[in-house]
Amino acid sequence: MNRTHLSYAIREATGFGRAEVWQVDLSKFSSVVAFADRLEKEGGRLDILLANAGVGLDKYRPTEDGWEESLQVNNLSTSLLCLRLAPRLVETSMKYPGARPRIVVVSSELHYNVSLPERAYDEGQSAFEHLNSREYCAAIMPGATRYSETKLLNVFFTLSLSELLKETPVVVNTVTPGYCYSDLARNASAAQAQADRIAKAILGRSTEKGARQLVYAAVGGEEKIDTLRGAYINLHKADEPGDYVLGEEGKKRRDKLWNDLVLELSKVDGRVLEIVQAYPANRGGNST
Ligand SMILES: NC(=O)c1ccc[n+]([C@@H]2O[C@H](COP(=O)([O-])OP(=O)(O)OC[C@H]3O[C@@H](n4cnc5c(N)ncnc54)[C@H](OP(=O)(O)O)[C@@H]3O)[C@@H](O)[C@H]2O)c1
Repeated sequence: MNRTHLSYAIREATGFGRAEVWQVDLSKFSSVVAFADRLEKEGGRLDILLANAGVGLDKYRPTEDGWEESLQVNNLSTSLLCLRLAPRLVETSMKYPGARPRIVVVSSELHYNVSLPERAYDEGQSAFEHLNSREYCAAIMPGATRYSETKLLNVFFTLSLSELLKETPVVVNTVTPGYCYSDLARNASAAQAQADRIAKAILGRSTEKGARQLVYAAVGGEEKIDTLRGAYINLHKADEPGDYVLGEEGKKRRDKLWNDLVLELSKVDGRVLEIVQAYPANRGGNST
């Protein structure tokens, strides 16, 4: 859909006619950087960044930037967008009394089902490089592992970003909409799409119920806002994320992934390191 059609669709669905649509393609770093640059120049206050876009791919598909597409869309570009826009959310909290900006990253309960290969934590190699290697992708695709891995990475990223911004009023959390009707299976094989249809008929939530979880994560729970910092939100409350991200081991994994992520993103956008180093929490917490 182009911008005019999207504005029209929003007006039709909600009655709100002043929505301005800016498009971004998360499978291209150049598009993410252009979007962030434009927002820096032309954008006003920024109260909510809802990082919802995601793909579930059954087959290996490389992007123009050389990444397995779901790894780039769901993780690298989503993280790049959050990092690039974070300063504007912080600025909004300073400039507008009462503003309580939030960054919400949409993950999934499927993050409970996976861990990452041990090789991702090898010193001297970027975890993302390993996760992107043809050899590793061939071993896990087709199948649901890659999608679940990307959702696990979303949870790790949220915890690290929340830690980075902990001295600011910006609240960062991650949310699962639950298993619900959507177009996520659009790239699935015919057999998988059929299995998905059957499973959804039994277990699926409506799209609206799924969306309500996102709305809660973005604006709900003001009365207990501190419990939502760095939280994994499920069914309108902070829930415990998977054991794999918790404890001392989880923190070690998280720090390695964070450092590797910042390294990878710094190669595509020089502003990333500057932003990461701008927040005091970084000097005590994350180690980049
Ligand atoms: N549905 C579920 O059961 C479920 C469960 C847990 C978590 N989630 C998560 O919920 C989020 C939304 O997914 P959904 O279920 O609503 O699926 P969906 O209907 O397929 O929506 C995915 C969204 O991502 C956008 N997107 C895909 N590739 C993009 C790209 N390269 N650049 C920019 N935007 C892109 C799509 O935009 P276009 O339509 O313009 O392509 C669409 O708006 C995802 O993060 C997913 O992992 C879904």
